[in-house]
Formats: sequence, C-alpha cells, structure tokens
Amino acid sequence: MKDKLQAIKEEALAQIAEAGVLDKLNDVRVNFLGKKGKLTAVLKSMKDVAPEDRPAFGQLVNEARAQIEGVLEETKKKLEEQALELQLKAEVIDVTLPAKKNNVGHRHPNTIAREEVERIFIGMGYEVVEGPEIEYDEYNFEKLNIPANHPAKDEQDTFYINKEIVLRTQTSPVQARTMEKGNLPIRMISPGRVFRSDEVDATHSPSFHQIEGLVVDKNVTFADLKGTLEQFAKELFGEETKTKFRPHHFPFTEPSAEVDVSCFKCGGKGCRFCKGSGWIEILGCGMVHPHVLEMCGIDPEEYTGFAFGVGLERIALLKYEIDDMRLLYENDVRFLKQF
Ligand code: DAH
Repeated sequence: MKDKLQAIKEEALAQIAEAGVLDKLNDVRVNFLGKKGKLTAVLKSMKDVAPEDRPAFGQLVNEARAQIEGVLEETKKKLEEQALELQLKAEVIDVTLPAKKNNVGHRHPNTIAREEVERIFIGMGYEVVEGPEIEYDEYNFEKLNIPANHPAKDEQDTFYINKEIVLRTQTSPVQARTMEKGNLPIRMISPGRVFRSDEVDATHSPSFHQIEGLVVDKNVTFADLKGTLEQFAKELFGEETKTKFRPHHFPFTEPSAEVDVSCFKCGGKGCRFCKGSGWIEILGCGMVHPHVLEMCGIDPEEYTGFAFGVGLERIALLKYEIDDMRLLYENDVRFLKQF
C-alpha cells in the first residue's frame, strides 16, 4: 500500500511538471484528487488496511494529498503568470502607428436651413416647440377648420393609422395644441416632419418637413405679420430681398396669403431660377381664424393672432440651389459635404 501511494504521488508530481498549460494542470488535479481520482481511490481502499495501521496510513495519504495540492497551487500560479505575460506581449499597442480617421459625416442641408430659421425667430423672441408626428385627425384637420368632407382634406391625403389617427400632413396642428395649453401670449415656431401620400419626384416626397409659426396676443394685426415675414425673408435671403403678399385661402386663417420673395439670383429681373417671373414662392400665412381661436379656448374678441407655414426643403433647395429634392434624402456624404 505504501509503495502504491508513493508511486501515485510521484506520478502526480511528474504529470504536474509536464502539464505546461492551465487546462492540462486541471486535468491532473481531477485525475488524482477528484472524486474518481487515483488518490481518492486509495483512501477508499482503507477498509483493506488492518485497523491498527489505519491512522498512520491515513496520515500518509493526507500528507501525499497536501503535497500534491501544494505543488498544483504553485504550478497554477506560475502558469497564470506566464499566460498573462504572453497576453501582454501579444496585445502590445504600437503608439507610433497613424490613427484611424474618424469619419463624422456632415450636417444635412435641411438641418442647416432649420437651424438658420430657428436662429432668426429665436432672435425675435420666439420659442421652439415640438408636436407629435402621429396626430389625431381632430388636431390635424377639425381644429384647423377642416371638417370631414372638406375639399382641403383631399389635397392633403395622408397615411391613416385608423379613423382617428393620421401621420400629420402639416405642422399646423401644433398651433391648436399650443393654443389649447392657454399660456398667452404665444410666440412660437414648430419645425418637424410631415407626411402626404404623394409620389416621389423632383419636388415631392411622401415625407418632408415644415416649420410652423404662431403668434397670439392682444392687438396683433396683419401689419405685424407683414413686418415679421419681411424681416425673416431679409435675414434668410439677404437685406435687399423684397416680399409680396398674394391673397390665398387656408381654412384656418382669414385673411390668408401666400408670400413670394424677390428672386435672390437675378434680383427680380427674371431668370431661369425664378422661371422668368422675378419672384419665388416661399410660404403660406394669415390671421388666425376666429373660429380656430374659439375652438382652442381663446376669446377672439380679446386676442388675435397670425400664423405661417414654411416648407423646410423648399428653403434648403432655394438657399443651396439644389434642383432635385430627392438628393436631400439619399444622404450621400459626397453630396452633403458641399453645404
Ligand atoms: N399648413 C399649410 C400647408 O401645409 C401651410 C400654412 C399655411 C401654414 C398658412 C400656416 C398658415 O400656419 O397660416 O399647406
């Protein structure tokens, strides 16, 4: 028995010395000290030893076990250190290598135009507010004086989530939402994405952007609207820009107008850019309809207001002389980098 024990011990120590890697070392541990290991088997055969020899033999087995465990532990530490060193060597970073270029893309012309419009109106004391892209039919149409069966609803055909909920066709519902909050006076703009079920071409897209504007206060007049939009056009297109208000119809404003600016390419003489007319249409506007004020809980006897809606893409296309709207949605960095 003693010899057998000695032989097992030597075998274990020899295998430990040979292991070389942590996995193998663990195999050795299992082979000798595990539940079915060779040393454990010796312990189990204690019953064959004469009772008076058992304590001494038991001690021998324990000593052998302790010795093997000790060497295993030491070897494990050594192998772990070696593995760490190898890893550190393998993962050395060469700080002299040139860095990878960080490609950050470019601000989109829409974004540049939006921020420019925001800057102008913030300068005039306006607040920038947000509204939901998925909107109640009620806000997108009803509260803007566009009841069911109104022809204006056909012109702004959109995507219906269900009977009551649509992808908004205009940013104008934010007018109703803001007025309903009742914090008067109001001076806000609201940029955002809108949707219509239009076919894609050089001037149309099923998803585009608008910037809504709304002012409600006591004694607001059409003169304020004119002055504000004239100032806006000058800041956006240049000091010499002239504006022209043409009568128009929008259901939620009365009176309503469309605004043209003098062509900033030819100064109004007429060129290819303005199709020979000298004028370029940029937005719709008007005095907030008294009925709309009423529906939003504001007394039209006490308060008046004006509103306007600008197509953001239209501004970007004009300002950067881009002739096809589709280019704005392709996000080709070679295109975007030009602005
Ligand atoms: N929402 C209108 C449209 O999409 C644009 C518009 C016209 C907005 C007149 C206004 C406005 O606020 O007063 O065609």
